[in-house]
Amino acid sequence: MQLSYLGINVEKLDAQWNAILFDVLGLEARPREEGEPLQLRVDDRHHRISLYPTGENGTAYVGWEADTQAEFDRVLRGLREQGVACEEADARLCAERAVMRMVYFEGPDGVRTELAFGGVVDGQPFKPSRATSGFNTGEQGLGHILMASADPAATVQWYQDKLGFKVSDYIHWDEAKATFLHCNPRHHSLAIMNPCFGTGAGELNHLMLQARSIDDVGRGYDEVQRLGIPLALTLGKHTNDHMTSFYMMTPGGFAIEYGYGGRTIEDEEEWEVQFYNAPKLWGHNLGKAQD
Ligand SMILES: [Fe+2]
Repeated sequence: MQLSYLGINVEKLDAQWNAILFDVLGLEARPREEGEPLQLRVDDRHHRISLYPTGENGTAYVGWEADTQAEFDRVLRGLREQGVACEEADARLCAERAVMRMVYFEGPDGVRTELAFGGVVDGQPFKPSRATSGFNTGEQGLGHILMASADPAATVQWYQDKLGFKVSDYIHWDEAKATFLHCNPRHHSLAIMNPCFGTGAGELNHLMLQARSIDDVGRGYDEVQRLGIPLALTLGKHTNDHMTSFYMMTPGGFAIEYGYGGRTIEDEEEWEVQFYNAPKLWGHNLGKAQD
């Protein structure tokens, strides 16, 4: 299983978005007509991120992808047995998501959640809009997301029972209590916390994209300073996943973390679930909004 794709409603697509998406992250935009969503590539997939300029900020959907048809069928059967009403996506919707098959349902906190299989690999290679070595995706998927929940314990249980996620570890700091969950070797694809730091229940706090080189992150950090992009957190390193990263504040009301070097969970038996009292080993100081 992997975090396959993300759909996000945004007030509008402006110069600030362009600076973050293209000048710093080097994502590739698919050609689009007026009124269509902005589909963004991070790897050989058709796209993994869709931004919908709807006039309002918010998470449109979160897409999880089964590795095999058999896993898709098994997880779907489990969802239905546990009383989750799943709707099968039609051909048009599957084409929009660029997947072979998809079902959608309501996840915790009313978040539209989708289970897919067969993400479309594009015939054309990924062409980053800034010279980078690309992103660490593959079996680890798009990256990770941190969302707030009105009932974090129930939500964490939901992902374990319904999608088979496993707990990686926990961090409690300031007013935050966060649980980190994995569904492939990526240390966490999903983290759930109580509503805090301005992130309400069902809202996205941040999306993390992992570079394949620390130099990509360092040069991105240079671009952030040059362009005056507001930082949510300065460069730093996390206690639990060991990611070296910084967080940009987007106009969409959530942050994008750009990181390198996150550790993986290769052996479930060997992994020890830890409880940390701080999210950072160093850095990750509160950024100042820049004008
Ligand atoms: Fe993160």
